[in-house]
Amino acid sequence: MYIEEKGSPMFPSKAPRVFVVASVVLLFLVTYTTLHLYHRVPPSYSPAAPQILPVKDVTTSVEELDAGLVDAAEFTTTRVLTPTLTTPAPVPTPTSKDEGPAWKPSTSNATPSPSAQPTELGDNPMTEDESGKEEHQEEDQRPLPDPKLCSEDVEFLVRSSIDLDLTERVHYVRRYIKPVLSDTVDRDNIANITEPLVEGSTEINLYECTDVTISQSEPIKLVVPKPYPKTTFAHLMFGVATDYKRLNGSIAPFSHWISGTGAKLVAVVTDAKEKSTEDMEQLQRGFEMADIDITLVKPISRDFSTSQNHFAVLTNMLEHDTPETQWYGLIDDDTFFPDLQPFSDSLATLDHNVDVYVGALSEDFSSVRIFGFMAYGGAGAYLSAPLARKLGDKALQCIHDATTKEGDTILRDCVYSNSKAKLTMLPGLYQQDLRDDVSGFFEAGLRPLNLHHWKSWYKAPVEKMAKAAKFCGDCFLQRWQFGNDTVFSNGFSIVEYTDGVGSVDLQLMEGTWGKADTKDFDFSLGPLRKAYTAEKKKSYKLREAELTEEGDLRQLYVRTGDSSKDEEDGLDWVVELIWQLH
Ligand SMILES: *[C@@H]1O[C@H](CO)[C@@H](O)[C@H](O)[C@H]1NC(C)=O
Ligand SMILES: *[C@@H]1O[C@H](CO)[C@@H](O)[C@H](O)[C@H]1NC(C)=O
Ligand SMILES: *[C@@H]1O[C@H](CO)[C@@H](O)[C@H](O)[C@H]1NC(C)=O
Repeated sequence: MYIEEKGSPMFPSKAPRVFVVASVVLLFLVTYTTLHLYHRVPPSYSPAAPQILPVKDVTTSVEELDAGLVDAAEFTTTRVLTPTLTTPAPVPTPTSKDEGPAWKPSTSNATPSPSAQPTELGDNPMTEDESGKEEHQEEDQRPLPDPKLCSEDVEFLVRSSIDLDLTERVHYVRRYIKPVLSDTVDRDNIANITEPLVEGSTEINLYECTDVTISQSEPIKLVVPKPYPKTTFAHLMFGVATDYKRLNGSIAPFSHWISGTGAKLVAVVTDAKEKSTEDMEQLQRGFEMADIDITLVKPISRDFSTSQNHFAVLTNMLEHDTPETQWYGLIDDDTFFPDLQPFSDSLATLDHNVDVYVGALSEDFSSVRIFGFMAYGGAGAYLSAPLARKLGDKALQCIHDATTKEGDTILRDCVYSNSKAKLTMLPGLYQQDLRDDVSGFFEAGLRPLNLHHWKSWYKAPVEKMAKAAKFCGDCFLQRWQFGNDTVFSNGFSIVEYTDGVGSVDLQLMEGTWGKADTKDFDFSLGPLRKAYTAEKKKSYKLREAELTEEGDLRQLYVRTGDSSKDEEDGLDWVVELIWQLH
């Protein structure tokens, strides 16, 4: 049935049956020969490519099951057909020393990056490893620009350009920002800055960067909250269950929010039985080097699915807690906190000495209809210490009795059948059941305590985005208006509205994601305004950010050139904002 559905556009029902059969045979032969001619798997197929895993192994939570259901039709065809559609990478020419991303000739039309596509498989591990870099490999290989040859002024730009796959020349705008730290700033107010933000561009050739100098303009003063104080969070413990590879890939994003905070992490390595002691030690070291207080454990039962382990991790957490532990958070491996401070502050409004079950619903009411009223796994489920202990004794029984296999629903049922606690919704937690283009969410001036689905349902470099939270705390996603047409959402985007900011109701969220036009998000994120077309809204998105040794924050916002419109050169646009600490 799935194949029929998927195949019908390719083979219209009126096509003679013999044609259909011939095509299938041809497709099979092409697949077969492709795989055999190239004595290695095509580049998009890493050896551990999850395409070959049964879907059950990669679905890890309720919302992913949802994805699994919705996308079941895609499953068979996507996975079977992909090899035939993938052109193997060309063998590098002897002259090209580098194996990095091929350079995009400046004449080429800017192709939309496939990484902007939604994954069809929910939280599929493959999506992290498949960057959009292959798309240019058929084009001429060029050596990469060498940041070491550049003047210091553009070293960061040129170094970043390699990963960002920028055009050979770019339009570049640099603005310095002088943050004015304030205790009293109304963070939700959109301050007006009269001068324009994106102005005075220079064309820079990333290959001829030796003598480039950028004139330093007068810094723009922006009033921002003070940075979060340096505190520890020994009262917080987090539990996660995922496989070795994904856990290893989580070290960097986890370290953004948990490194050196005193918060504890317990991780069930779901495929631990296939791993050697050395493998496990190596993973342990990886976390320790990132200054993360982690305990790696094996699944309690080898029969548990990843989702069951999502809940079973609670018993492991209770074995490694301390008298200081106040909250036990069961999270997904792609749950991300811009900073623990506001999350901890919000939790502190609740009494951890009584039974409390904290979380957030899906923003998508169609999911709530299916899975019900509970703390959705990606936003995390947080149990106060007495409730955690109460459930700890019952955990295995709860898994045994469960009528579902999903961690967050088992937890919900376990809470409801063993305590009188009901779901307490903590504003600012998000399951982020949003797909594709999530700009509307990030440009709405929200203060999300956590993010989720950023490497699967949608793509966003959350670690880089949230560097702003390390620099000026609550200024992450704070908004300013520049001139009469530009809105800056710190850490996410700079947007120029063709019809001026006056034409935009900035108090409403723009419904940019798939399904935003249904009524299913009104109860959570609405009222929404209509999404703009690209003609009405020019977006520079944050693609790179770093905190320098001096404590400055550098952010690169990039707009991919569009040669189909007025910009005939097709060059990428880069706006660098340098937030000066002193
Ligand atoms: C900024 O200017 C807009 C008009 O462009 C006005 O509606 C708004 O109130 C101003 N905001 C502040 C904080 O002054
Ligand atoms: C773990 O991740 C690092 C990069 O963060 C990578 O270099 C290493 O190969 C990974 N190890 C495994 C076993 O996947
Ligand atoms: C914005 O201001 C400029 C002059 O500074 C003017 O030319 C332009 O028409 C204005 N745009 C809108 C949308 O009001």
